[in-house]
Amino acid sequence: MALIRSLGYNVVVGRRAIPSLRAFLKRNNYASHFILCDENTLQHCLPLLITACPELANAHVIEIESGEMSKSIEFCVHIWQTLAENNAGRDTLLVNLGGGVVSDLGGFCASVYKRGIDFVNVPTSLLAMADASIGGKTAIDFGGLKNLVGMFAQPKGVFIEPGFLQTLPERHFDNGMAEIYKMALIADAKLWTELHADKNRLKIETVVMRVLELKNRIVIKDPYDRGPRKILNFGHTIGHALEMKEEEAGKDILHGEAVLIGMIIECHIAWQKKLLAKPSLTSVADALFSKCGYKVATLRAEELLVRMRNDKKNRKNKLVFALISSIGKCVPDVEVSEAQIKRAFDFYNSLLHDKA
Ligand SMILES: NC(=O)c1ccc[n+]([C@@H]2O[C@H](COP(=O)([O-])OP(=O)(O)OC[C@H]3O[C@@H](n4cnc5c(N)ncnc54)[C@H](O)[C@@H]3O)[C@@H](O)[C@H]2O)c1
Repeated sequence: MALIRSLGYNVVVGRRAIPSLRAFLKRNNYASHFILCDENTLQHCLPLLITACPELANAHVIEIESGEMSKSIEFCVHIWQTLAENNAGRDTLLVNLGGGVVSDLGGFCASVYKRGIDFVNVPTSLLAMADASIGGKTAIDFGGLKNLVGMFAQPKGVFIEPGFLQTLPERHFDNGMAEIYKMALIADAKLWTELHADKNRLKIETVVMRVLELKNRIVIKDPYDRGPRKILNFGHTIGHALEMKEEEAGKDILHGEAVLIGMIIECHIAWQKKLLAKPSLTSVADALFSKCGYKVATLRAEELLVRMRNDKKNRKNKLVFALISSIGKCVPDVEVSEAQIKRAFDFYNSLLHDKA
């Protein structure tokens, strides 16, 4: 069975996932079950889940609107109110059925409701299967900043049924691939090569399992993100700032799309810092650029620097990045100057111009 032991819980991937969820429910005998979903997972995933897992047939369903905007205090209030109105107690289980928005929001709400109730993740997007569903980071966005308010809270189990991906829109599939590329770039050169050699040869279930094993190895060494885990932030310092800027301008950018662009720019910074060799910069930047579904117009560094100065990873007002030193290796805590960031934006803009 494809099983990973994480921080006090199991991650089950593949056809044993839902049967394992059933066994978990029978073992734990919760007084009540709640299922958090958005309108898409309500339509496409909930009927499949209930058919395969009749123990959840009487669960209360809490629906949120799909999209990043739901990672907000307003939706927390909606979830806490629904739990309270339906007498959810400490012996209640919340099932997060959806993408990273549902698991980040649901995990956060569960972790503070009545000082913490149990929750499990049943991820339905590729990004959530390969990344967001494990590691214990839960959060909402606040004051225009990503994941500003949150908790480390571990689920009681993660049950990954790749069959849910059949209804996932292609753009969201590509969005999930961005985090898979990131994991290969920071921790598995062989996977990076295999992903580019012939993507059809690798089954998505195998890829998910491999990146989860990599992520799990990193998070169990550093559950609270104080040391080695920071390498998971490769591409995210720029990525988060870009995501916020585009969202504020009313643009429809996805997390993975922003991270993909972030990785290209941060590769150039890694080259300037003499961490990454020029041929690797060229090959990685070209490969990632060819996967960029979201194209921004010319990027102006100053617009993103304003937001990056607020990044949680900064130390003593210095901008700090996790940067790759070769394909498959990453170094955390590299101090970067604003001049280096501006040069990296010029590099990205030149790619946009050259390949237009
Ligand atoms: N906690 C973590 O460690 C971590 C890691 C990475 C990303 N994240 C967070 O994850 C979020 C992004 O996650 P996401 O990309 O999954 O976004 P999402 O939850 O918004 O899901 C993407 C879209 O796909 C739809 N969808 C999901 N599964 C579907 C299915 N099977 N069939 C049809 N439609 C489906 C959703 O309704 C939504 O419209 C961001 O908020 C990001 O900050 C968290």
